[in-house]
This record gives sequence, structure tokens and C-alpha cells, in this order.
Amino acid sequence: MKNLAILGSTGSIGENTLRIVRTHPTKFRVRALVANTNREKLYLQAKEFRPDLVCLYDANAAEDLEPRLKKLGIRFVTGADGLVAASTLSSIDIAIFAMVGAVGLAPIFAAIRARKPVAIANKEPLVMAGELLVREAKRLKVPLLPVDSEHSGLWQCLEGHKKKTVKKLILTSSGGPFRKRRGSFTGITPRQALRHPKWKMGPKITIDSATLMNKGLEVIEAANLFEIPAERVEVLIHPEAIIHALVEFVDGSHLAHLGITDMRLPIQYALSFPNRLENHLPELDLAGLREFHFERPDKKRFPCLELGYAASRAGGTMPAVLNAANEVAAEAFLRGNISFTSIPKRNEKVMSRHRVIAKPRLRDLIEADSWARDYAESLR
Ligand SMILES: NC(=O)c1ccc[n+]([C@@H]2O[C@H](COP(=O)([O-])OP(=O)(O)OC[C@H]3O[C@@H](n4cnc5c(N)ncnc54)[C@H](OP(=O)(O)O)[C@@H]3O)[C@@H](O)[C@H]2O)c1
Repeated sequence: MKNLAILGSTGSIGENTLRIVRTHPTKFRVRALVANTNREKLYLQAKEFRPDLVCLYDANAAEDLEPRLKKLGIRFVTGADGLVAASTLSSIDIAIFAMVGAVGLAPIFAAIRARKPVAIANKEPLVMAGELLVREAKRLKVPLLPVDSEHSGLWQCLEGHKKKTVKKLILTSSGGPFRKRRGSFTGITPRQALRHPKWKMGPKITIDSATLMNKGLEVIEAANLFEIPAERVEVLIHPEAIIHALVEFVDGSHLAHLGITDMRLPIQYALSFPNRLENHLPELDLAGLREFHFERPDKKRFPCLELGYAASRAGGTMPAVLNAANEVAAEAFLRGNISFTSIPKRNEKVMSRHRVIAKPRLRDLIEADSWARDYAESLR
């Protein structure tokens, strides 16, 4: 039995994690649940899973949640301290990071320092401070378990292989909703961008998938997680989204990870590692597919992908700056305040104004994040 803290339990990854717990009630037990503002969904989850601790980050949204949880014998916390309380709870064996954005950084660090294995879907902290997180996890011998489907695929393909035998890592992308769009991208609405052809996900990552910023962030994430230069991380468009990742070895052999487009697969693998568990997910029908397609991404039409490489090349604080600028731009686009095509322009502008600190400490990364957010907000 593994005891879990789920940070971001009301979101897409969080709900999929809870579905896994329902399928395997003798393998996993929920000890902590965390959300931002979604009080009612969090309460229903608490009623069903009876954790020790519940955290709602936004105290102003809590209303009568605390007394209602008290009746169930559940401790209630809020704010940044609440996130850390959940991710370091003494009764947990693993903390699952299913939150969105850089806000996950502090509770991930806290979990690692409390020697709690961390399963990370929350890619923004891995982009922002991946090198520091990986170094700290190694130093303290704390397992860092990737949940992002491509990185889970890479992790599985790399198992048992020496690093020096790896030539390159390949991440695939479905291409998003605008892969085949003819003509200009001006006039794309949030509603159109939220219609992803393959994956059902939260709004921020869905917008990132439409701009291909998600793949740019994933290149940095892979470089940090697997300690390989971003130039040796390639992106291929694979519209069927069945092959999630490949590893090319120095002898020319390739190992690929295949699976249905359901995040329960990588989440369950991270939770059950080093074991594998049976489940009731649909089987992969390869014969029914008949064809796999691959193509190179169109970097001109999707400049955000190249920004990911540029940020990784610049190194130091630059990935944190790109991530923060993009969080602001994606949010502004979702609110209807900026156009789809200004997302890469704004991200690039913020990056161009940043003076990189080459070997940043955590404090430098937090300051770079904060500066980039302020500057991105100030752009008209
Ligand atoms: N969805 C996918 O299939 C997928 C695949 C790969 C990677 N990822 C990554 O996984 C992360 C989560 O994605 P998602 O699609 O699940 O997002 P989502 O559906 O938008 O859910 C986000 C979750 O985080 C919570 N949250 C947001 N800000 C918070 C804060 N300040 N404090 C505490 N909780 C907070 C939200 O709570 P409320 O409900 O209260 O807002 C919600 O539970 C992202 O980093 C994404 O890039 C997602």
C-alpha cells in the first residue's frame, strides 16, 4: 500500500490519479488532497477518499470548507505553507504534482528535502529549475518519477541503458489543432485553440499544445530530467499520438514507447514503479491503425518550439524567464486579452530583455520568474 498526496487533485491529471486509486484500492491510499479554488470538488473528493489533510491554496475561496472537513475529522490548511504541509506530510510515501504552473516549485523542493519520492506532471518547475531539482533529488537519493507521457516513455526506454550509449532523445507531438490549418493564424480564438485533437487536458497545457510551446517546454524538461543537451532532444510530429517517445542509441537502434492517449498509463507507471499493475484501460489496437506518420515540425509557423531550444541554449535563468512569460501570455490569451500570434512574440520579447545568470541559485530563479511575469504583464 502506497500513501499519496495529490497536489492539484481537482484538475485533469489529479482526477485521473484518483481514478487509478479507485481501480486499485488495496494498492494506493489518499492522504492529502490539494486544489487552488475549486472548493466543492475538493470537498466531494475529501468525502470519498477521507485524507488526513486537505489544502485549498486560495484561502479567500474556502468559505465554510474548514468546518465541513472538521466534521469528517480532516485537517484543513491554505496558502503556500499548506502546499508544503501536503507535500511533506509524514503519512505519505509519494507526492504527486498535478498542479499547473511555477507555483509547484516550492512544494516539490520541500518534498524532496523531506525525502518523499515525487511523481511530477507539473512541468513548469522542471523547466524553471530542473537542474537544481534533479541535483537535489540525486544528492538525497529521492526518486523523481516523470509523469508527462513523453518523459515517462523516455524513462521507460532508457531503463537499463548506459547514458553514454544514448545518441538522442525524440519527443513526439500530435501537432495540435492547427497542424493542418491553411493561411494565417491571426484570428484564432481560445475556443478553437482549446479543441485538442488527441488529448483531454487542462486549459493552460492545451493552449501550449496549440502553439507548440508545450513541446518547447518539454525539450527543456527532457534535457533537465535526463541530463542531456537540448540539441540532442529532437521533436517529431506524429499525428496518431501512439508513439510518445523514442531513444536513438549510438549503434543506430531505436527504442520506442507506445500507448493509448490516456494519462492514466504514465501516472500509474510512476505510482507503481518499479512494478507494473494491470488495469481496465482500452487495449492498443495496432492493426486497426494501419499507418504511422511522422513529419518535422514547422518552426516558422510555430516559433514557440524554437524558443524552447533558445532558452535551453542560453541556460541559467532563461528557461525560468520563458516559462514565466509564457504562463502570462497563455493566461492573457485564454482571457481574450491578446491574440494567438502574440504569444510567441511576447515570449521572445521578454527573453530578449533578460540578462542571464549562468549558474543560478534557487533565489535567482525565483527572481527571474518574478521579473519576467512583471515585464510580460506590462507589455501591451
Ligand atoms: N492534463 C494532461 O493530460 C497533462 C499531460 C502532461 C502534463 N501535464 C501537466 O500537468 C500539470 C497539470 O495539468 P492539468 O491539465 O491537470 O491542469 P488543470 O486541469 O488545469 O488542473 C490544475 C490543477 O492544479 C490546481 N492548482 C492550480 N493552481 C494551484 C495553486 N496555486 N495551488 C494549488 N493547486 C493549484 C487546480 O486547482 P483548481 O481546480 O482549484 O483550479 C487543479 O487541481 C501541468 O503542469 C501540465 O502541463 C498535464
